[in-house]
Amino acid sequence: MSQQPPRFPFCFEGDRIAPELAERAAHCPVSEVLTNTDNRAWLIAGYEEVRTVLRDRRFSLSLTSDPDAPRQDPLYPPPTVTDTLTYFQRTGMLPALHRGLGPAQQHLTAGTIADLVRGVLRPFLAREEQPADLITGFVFPLSRLLTFALLGVTPDGCPDDSVLFGIFRTGPDSGERVPACWEAGQTYMLAQLPRLRRRREGLLGELIGPADRAGTLAEEEIADLFLFLLISQYGNPATFLGAAVAALMRHPDLVDRLRAEPGLMPRAVDELLRWTVFLGDGLARVAREDVTVGGVRIRRGELVLVSTDAANHDPRVFPDPQRLDIDRPENPHLRFSHGRHRCPGRSVAALQAEVTLRTLLEETGDLGLAVPPDAVVWHPYHAITLPQSLPVRWTRP
Ligand code: HEM
Repeated sequence: MSQQPPRFPFCFEGDRIAPELAERAAHCPVSEVLTNTDNRAWLIAGYEEVRTVLRDRRFSLSLTSDPDAPRQDPLYPPPTVTDTLTYFQRTGMLPALHRGLGPAQQHLTAGTIADLVRGVLRPFLAREEQPADLITGFVFPLSRLLTFALLGVTPDGCPDDSVLFGIFRTGPDSGERVPACWEAGQTYMLAQLPRLRRRREGLLGELIGPADRAGTLAEEEIADLFLFLLISQYGNPATFLGAAVAALMRHPDLVDRLRAEPGLMPRAVDELLRWTVFLGDGLARVAREDVTVGGVRIRRGELVLVSTDAANHDPRVFPDPQRLDIDRPENPHLRFSHGRHRCPGRSVAALQAEVTLRTLLEETGDLGLAVPPDAVVWHPYHAITLPQSLPVRWTRP
């Protein structure tokens, strides 16, 4: 009888890579694992193998919605999530999407981000009692404001953080929880559409015109596509910020250096994007035909879980990968994926992280964890990693 492969994901912590994953990145780039639903899948962990799979169109993201395909989690993701790009292409929204998220976008400038950060941070820091939780007191409220500003939606009726973050749930409880959260999000987005049509504000205000002109999408499909953008903007920058702060708290020397030389922040963010563990699952693909990767034959219809976290710790590309080192001469990390589905929000996401972390250091004279780093508890079973809380102490400059 063949031995059962190990269950993946190995852990949900964002400030250390699981030893099993680091080991695979270094020595076993393609290996078998069991998913959260006991399906067999191929875990892709080596940098070159990850790039190969992500750019090879024979590995399909949209097929992960096919009810005949093996699953990572109890629910099959809807096509509006796995085939977003096709929806945006067919309706003529894609150029507006790239413009509205690209380096020249004006919805969320560095100045606006800094104002929003200070608006949330100052009351947080002015409180009497310490320690206080940076996630509920700063990361989530800030993420909501940044989301409203970038997308052009309003807070009225916006589901609370447990619902928005609940959409990222994976594993045993996700089959019931995720649909309820998604439905709440869709209801909110449907209610926002008339205002977006009237006011044409933010990224969604730019997208709704082409969507309506195409006239091929049901109102619920537009709401779902916009909700996907909302949770991408709300959840991804928030989880990265949580993991980045947790990582910085483990590296006080780097914090001192960044306080002294704030111009190093873009390099630091880039390295934090590489070093932090962002995915609480793999990026899923289904093979359209038989393909050999890293010497392993992957059969048509099989599930592949791509770990960009592992690839970002491949010692062949990143010497001493567990070291957080902002002086790396090159940093070709794959945090934003690679190939056809590479994240279109990468530029605005990096800007948010740079301005937020810089402002956080400017507004605090000292900032430290109130618990040992290993005592930080991370949310289990979510597609993205986030500490349940980050208790911090601080002094004012
Ligand atoms: C730190 C922040 C972020 C990270 C780490 C991140 C990461 C990623 C990754 C890894 C993918 C590719 C998934 C795959 O290959 O299967 C992706 C796709 C995507 N991201 Fe982001 N993202 C971030 C922020 C954002 C923001 C701010 C937006 C804008 C609203 C956004 C919108 C999207 C969209 C629409 C896709 C789907 C692209 C497609 O399917 O072709 N992301 N993101």
